[in-house]
Formats: sequence, C-alpha cells, structure tokens
Amino acid sequence: MEEMTKPRILNGIAIASEIKAEVAAEVQALVRRGIVPGLAVILVGEVPASQIYVRSKVKTCGELGIFSEMLTPPESITTTEMLALVSELNARDDIDGILIQLPLPKHVDTKRLLEAVSPDKDVDGFHPVNVGRLQSGQPGLAPCTPAGIMEILRRSNLPVAGQNAVVVGRSDIVGKPSAMMLVNASATVTICHSKTADLAKFTQSADILVAAIGRPGFVSADMVKPGATLIDVGINRITDSADVEEFFPGDAERAATLAKRGSVVVGDIHPAAFARAGAYTPVPGGVGALTIAMLMQNTVTAAKLRRGISTEKR
Ligand code: GUN
Repeated sequence: MEEMTKPRILNGIAIASEIKAEVAAEVQALVRRGIVPGLAVILVGEVPASQIYVRSKVKTCGELGIFSEMLTPPESITTTEMLALVSELNARDDIDGILIQLPLPKHVDTKRLLEAVSPDKDVDGFHPVNVGRLQSGQPGLAPCTPAGIMEILRRSNLPVAGQNAVVVGRSDIVGKPSAMMLVNASATVTICHSKTADLAKFTQSADILVAAIGRPGFVSADMVKPGATLIDVGINRITDSADVEEFFPGDAERAATLAKRGSVVVGDIHPAAFARAGAYTPVPGGVGALTIAMLMQNTVTAAKLRRGISTEKR
C-alpha cells in the first residue's frame, strides 16, 4: 500500500461565502454613488430544477443588495416574443445583467436569444462576443461555473501555471470556457470528451482534473494521478440502492437520504478517486456553490463596466 496523505477538501460553500461578502461590499460602494446593480432573470415555463435555481439566484441578489426582477413567461412563448422581452431589458437602465435560464422549450431558438442579449449585460458569458473576449484576454463577462473553478484554485493557493490540466467535457457552458481560463492562467491544457481514445492516458497525467461530463462517477480511481487536484462539476442523481452502495459502500447517511428523498447526489468523479487526490471539490458543496456567487460578481462587474468604473481588484 503506497503512503498517502489525507486529501484536502476544497470547501466551495466557504469560498462562495467569502466571494459573496466581497460582492456585497462592492454593491454598498456602488449604492453610495447612487448605483444599484440590477439582475433580470427570465424563467420560461415550469421546469422544477430551473425554478429551484432561479429562486436561489433571486434570493442571493436580495442578500447582497442587488436589485432583481424575475420574468416568468409561459412555456408557449414564441422566439419573437422572447426577443422583444430581451430587447426591453437591454434598453433598461436599471438592469445590468440579463440571465435566460436554460434549457428553453424546444420551439424557442436558444442560440438566437443568447445572441440577442447585449454583451455588456450578458452575465452568463454565453454571448459570442464574450466568448471572444475571454479567448483574447479582453475585459468582459465570463461563464459563472468556470470562473468559480478558477476562484477555488486561486483562493486555495493551488498552482495553475505550468500544471497539466485535463478537462473532461467540451460543453460551451463549462468544458470549453474552463479550458480557456486554465490556458489563460498558463496551465498546459487538454480537452477530452466522449470520443477521446484512451481517456485514462490523459487523465492520469493531470495535475488538475476538471470533470464536467454529466455521468455519475464516470472518472474512476485508476484514472487519477495520485496527489492531483480534482474539480468535480457533475451533479447527478442516483436512485438505485445498488448504485448508492457501489458509490458509497457502507454509508448509512446516504442510504438514509435515498430512503427519505428517493435519490442521492453524486458527481462525475467516483468517490473512491477522491482518496487518491491531493485536493478535491466535494459534491455537493464544491463547484456548485460557486456558480451563484460568480453570477452575483458578474452582475456587479457588468454594472461597473457599463458605467466605465474600474473593475480592478485591490
Ligand atoms: N442552466 C443550467 N446551468 C445554467 C447556467 O449556468 N446559466 C443559465 N442561464 N442556465 C443554466
């Protein structure tokens, strides 16, 4: 048995609290100048998961002193009507950030809508202009989850420059922007995905491994380099007691959660892999906790950028 030190758990909830406190202070400084940052959230139809996320976003705005407005058009809204809504929000001076909660109903043209949001109010960082700004290192708005990953690494004093970073997953929301931010921070970055041949060969070389695939426990212990930093972006629900026992053997607490709630949350990294890590983000309580904090930060950044106020941190 090889000698291993206990892995460090990267507490996303604590880091998110720290960021929210800093954002609240920034909001107060703006309020003293007569500026109240404002976020508009569009939630279409009645998708339970989206309703939970949006409620949480609106609640956090309130806690930080950010004005928020929730728009809840029915599932039947057309692309044209949505475009009109976005256009109104683009024109409003009291709105600094516009967030269209995804996924949208199938009949709505998501791409067209994301491109209709003013890049300066695009707090999700999904607009092609902000994608371009991120890749060319210009000031702009970057996607919240990848930005949260970078904050976890930075605030935990984990080195990035010169490290081998492997991102598993190539989504526009997480995988690609995470890879871009890591390369901007001077990591050597590899993006792997469902078509990657010999995935383990790549993941085993990773000093920093970001898993954003959306499959429960996909990254197994043997795929991980001992001592690596593991960043688990996955939030998957398992409902089968055999699966719960496979991921969390002998875990009475999780067995009880399954009995009570009907599901247990597991990330994209198998819990057995965490034991080999130098540091890792737990699920829940890791990366997920950062996403809303970074949305709040982006809203304040948008409020400042739009008014030509410096966004430099001291
Ligand atoms: N749905 C799931 N994740 C996200 C996100 O980061 N932003 C938006 N707008 N919708 C989402």
